[in-house]
Amino acid sequence: MENKTTGNTEGIRASVLARLDSLYGFETEEDEFLPRELMKILAEISCAINREIAVYITRDGEIVSVAVGTDCDVELTDYRLRRNAERLSYVRCVHTHPDGDGRLSDVDLSALKIFRYDAMTAVGVKNGEPTFVQTAFLTENTEILMPDPVRWYRVPDAEWLAQIEISDEIVGRENARDVADRPEKAVLMGIESTESLEELGRLAETAGAQVVGAFLQKRDKPDGALFIGKGRAEELARDCQSLEADLCIFDEELTGVQVRNLEETLRIKVIDRTALILDIFAQRASSAEGKLQVELAQLQYQSARLIGQGLVLSRLAGGIGTRGPGESKLEMNRRRIRGRMTELRRRLDELEKQRNIRRKSRERNEIPVVALVGYTNAGKSTLLNALTGADVYVQDQLFATLDAVSRRMETPEKTPYLLTDTVGFIRKLPHTLVSAFRSTMDEAVLADVLVIVSDGASPEMLKQHDTVEQVLEELGATEQKRIEVINKCDAAEVSPVFPGAVIISAKTGEGLEDLKAAIADALQESYAPETFRVPFSRYGILAEIRSVGRVITEEHTDQGTDVTAMIAKEDTERLVRKYGAEILKKD
Ligand code: GTP
Repeated sequence: MENKTTGNTEGIRASVLARLDSLYGFETEEDEFLPRELMKILAEISCAINREIAVYITRDGEIVSVAVGTDCDVELTDYRLRRNAERLSYVRCVHTHPDGDGRLSDVDLSALKIFRYDAMTAVGVKNGEPTFVQTAFLTENTEILMPDPVRWYRVPDAEWLAQIEISDEIVGRENARDVADRPEKAVLMGIESTESLEELGRLAETAGAQVVGAFLQKRDKPDGALFIGKGRAEELARDCQSLEADLCIFDEELTGVQVRNLEETLRIKVIDRTALILDIFAQRASSAEGKLQVELAQLQYQSARLIGQGLVLSRLAGGIGTRGPGESKLEMNRRRIRGRMTELRRRLDELEKQRNIRRKSRERNEIPVVALVGYTNAGKSTLLNALTGADVYVQDQLFATLDAVSRRMETPEKTPYLLTDTVGFIRKLPHTLVSAFRSTMDEAVLADVLVIVSDGASPEMLKQHDTVEQVLEELGATEQKRIEVINKCDAAEVSPVFPGAVIISAKTGEGLEDLKAAIADALQESYAPETFRVPFSRYGILAEIRSVGRVITEEHTDQGTDVTAMIAKEDTERLVRKYGAEILKKD
């Protein structure tokens, strides 16, 4: 590290800066916590420049960093990752308070916790002289041990040095035990709307985070380097520090450079909405295909962002945004990523082929497909369960369902159909994800009838509906019959805002009969019973009807065979075009 004073050194005379720089060579003895000589120098300079000064002293007594604050505070540096992340940082932070007050502030104490300094010390300064000194240490359960301030010449060096060793022991022991179980504390940052930010909060909770703060800064154009502008980023850094956040989640897509710059400024892990959604998907994917799709999407996302040394903080810290489906680790270099992506694509292609074979056989059986689509959390899985008695994972969480689940059903007229639950849609669903989940979404694209489920209890229902329409359009699912459903009528007053909407409660069962009837009607429109009269001489037609329709009755008469089958209108039309209208039995 270069031995130069960092921070806000603007306007400081060269001679004063040189004195600050010379602190790097300052020797502290092994039995000194804080040499009086050092305190005097810090007090004098801090008073002269009227800014805070921080020095970072290792347990070996070496000053490894000197920093000057902005107007009233110094940016505290994270030394945590230089050593074993589960112990204390091996570095204590000593800094001045030029307003004379030697007491530690809340921000100081949060920094102590977050950066796990050996100790945090404030030296009050008045008229160029040190006044009182206060030091805090970490102890059991991230509590803080903070003896009263002492006069600067009464610093109990031996006692405080001993306390560092004790704290290190305690913290090491505790972290080894519970570092993995604690939920990560997340701060959210949005630039669009409160609604979008609230949704981000629900996503964060779904991913297992505890949201400790949310900020909105409306802006039309994101700042290139930091996304939110330098001043706001610095403010956010202080907020994150005092809220003791482990990570900051942005509601928009960030570039790799922005993530790195923001991590440098905020000193905590930074992820964006896409990475968060991918993380949830990674936790949720259960089928082999789902897992491969998620991993591919994660690698695509990551490879577009790999820059130089990579993201030191997030990669080391683990947790949300770094988890992959199954056992896969997200820490590959670019070349290996490319190889892995090729492999994933190959395996997905294979699965896709198998799926097509399955689909073909389904098509041959002519079982029509009814797909439930809708915004995440609208209640699709609950509805599938209510309609079929299937046991689909239902959670008040976003994206509880990732893999398409199908159940066989029958209309009252005994027309069989497949009812399929699909992955929930969400606004700002990244394109990489839409394409990654294409094959799952294909269930919706290829369905004969779409049941669009809206959450009647959400004030955002109309906007969510727009998103669903948009994604369906992107997927090319525009041709099928649609049934609009407004769900959760038990929880809110709902009106049929969409034409022909069926109002239901998947929870209480209200309206389900109407919905079943609507599905049967929709299917009936495309799958009508039709009776053909096939003459003996054209027996081949019979086989063709059997292959596309479901035969209900067959009757042999002296003119041929009368066949009644459930058959798609298009197929009837095709047969008529091919063999002539006389094959239809007229009564
Ligand atoms: P994704 O998997 O995210 O796409 O969600 P989903 O649309 O499958 O929603 P899910 O069925 O998991 O339901 C989401 C939440 O809404 C759960 O907490 C359900 O209990 C609740 N819910 C579903 N239907 C109703 C309903 O009719 N009334 C009420 N009050 N709550 C419901």
